[in-house]
Amino acid sequence: MPAAPSPLRTVDSSAFSLAPRGPHSPRGPRATAEELEGVFESFGLAPGTVRPLGSHGPQGPRFHVAGPDELLVGRRFSSIDAELAGDSPLLLVVEGKPDDRRLAMWRNALWPLVHVGAILKVSGGKAKRITLSGTEKLEGSFDFEGAVLFGRRTEHVMSPDATVEKFDRNASNWDGMPGGAGYPHFRWMRKFVGRFARPAASDVPMRVLDFGCGAGWVGIEAARGIGNVHLSSFDPSPEMVKITGANAAKNGVTSFEGRTGFGEDPPFGGAKSEPFDFVISSGVVSFSPDVETWLDGLVATIVPGGDLVIGDIHPNSKGFRRRRRRKPLLPVREMNARTREEIRAGLEARGLEHVRNGAYQLTRPIPEAMHVNDTRLGGVLTYPLLWMNRLATWLDGSFGSPLQDRFDSWVMHFRVPKA
Ligand SMILES: C[S@@+](CC[C@H](N)C(=O)[O-])C[C@H]1O[C@@H](n2cnc3c(N)ncnc32)[C@H](O)[C@@H]1O
Repeated sequence: MPAAPSPLRTVDSSAFSLAPRGPHSPRGPRATAEELEGVFESFGLAPGTVRPLGSHGPQGPRFHVAGPDELLVGRRFSSIDAELAGDSPLLLVVEGKPDDRRLAMWRNALWPLVHVGAILKVSGGKAKRITLSGTEKLEGSFDFEGAVLFGRRTEHVMSPDATVEKFDRNASNWDGMPGGAGYPHFRWMRKFVGRFARPAASDVPMRVLDFGCGAGWVGIEAARGIGNVHLSSFDPSPEMVKITGANAAKNGVTSFEGRTGFGEDPPFGGAKSEPFDFVISSGVVSFSPDVETWLDGLVATIVPGGDLVIGDIHPNSKGFRRRRRRKPLLPVREMNARTREEIRAGLEARGLEHVRNGAYQLTRPIPEAMHVNDTRLGGVLTYPLLWMNRLATWLDGSFGSPLQDRFDSWVMHFRVPKA
């Protein structure tokens, strides 16, 4: 099927701007490279190698010191694009006592050119470094007061190597924790997506593909629901594919093949295998640095007349919008996630017919309540929260999914027209 132009948004790096509030803003002296040496070193950067943004010279690490009143409008910041080498970091230094909302504003302004992966906060000469894995107090004393956002080009953060490394390292976490408070919810979500469409079984095994399988549960739930199935699953992470194979075997899915690969050039379909009657992709498209090519890859795996179920996080839910406003550090997928409408337009532009919408995972404050339940309440609220989610999802589906901003995830069913 020819790929038609799609209305999905693309990255325009010229849109970033950082500038003072106005011509009369009081702006004190800015921290100098010498005062920031300890900061550079704390990120493993030799002081002489980090140049101020806007300086000429070879591409490499850059820093920019923003005054307490500096805002995000006005002068273009496209020199970041010209000056950063592929993997070199940008350190955005915000002086004074910036709160998290202000840091989140800077992070949002840098996206999608740069993704912030760590923050250094310095107060009274003492520093702590914060990442999504936790907070670490640093030794020594520092010569400035403020915060430093540490980021790299998004294309580096989302590169194939970085993706494989990240998911290989965290593979067992993505398999859920059997017996843990969050496990029933983990499994329910995979079952909900895996059974969102029920293509009719026949005497011939249905060819099912799990596109970005993680630990494999969505494909396994689909296979168990349909019965007579040959399941193929792939993921960029070899560790994930290994876990999927083990989970399939443990759950009675005996006709199974796992491969490694990326959705942008899938290891199944096209010249690599027969196409599939039923393709499912759950929670994957937000990890793609190139959604157009990923959608081309997805569509190329489905047989004419076949079914597709695709789901992912909903960036405009109440909870995710609040997190973007308030949290200066977010996983890259939360920044990169697409709405149901964007993905629907991309798939319809490729000739697919939309069948049905759904939404699941109630948004704020349910994920926060689940976190408290998992970490402090020993799981007493696991089933009440799970049943709230199930009921809300069922009601939403019964009315055609009109309230999607009340849910953190969307799901859709499509069909490829018969040839
Ligand atoms: C959030 S997990 C979801 C796993 C599984 N589908 C589920 O619902 O439990 C995302 C998975 O997508 C995979 N992934 C990341 N980038 C991908 C890409 N470009 N194409 C295909 N899979 C990708 C990751 O390795 C990871 O296993």
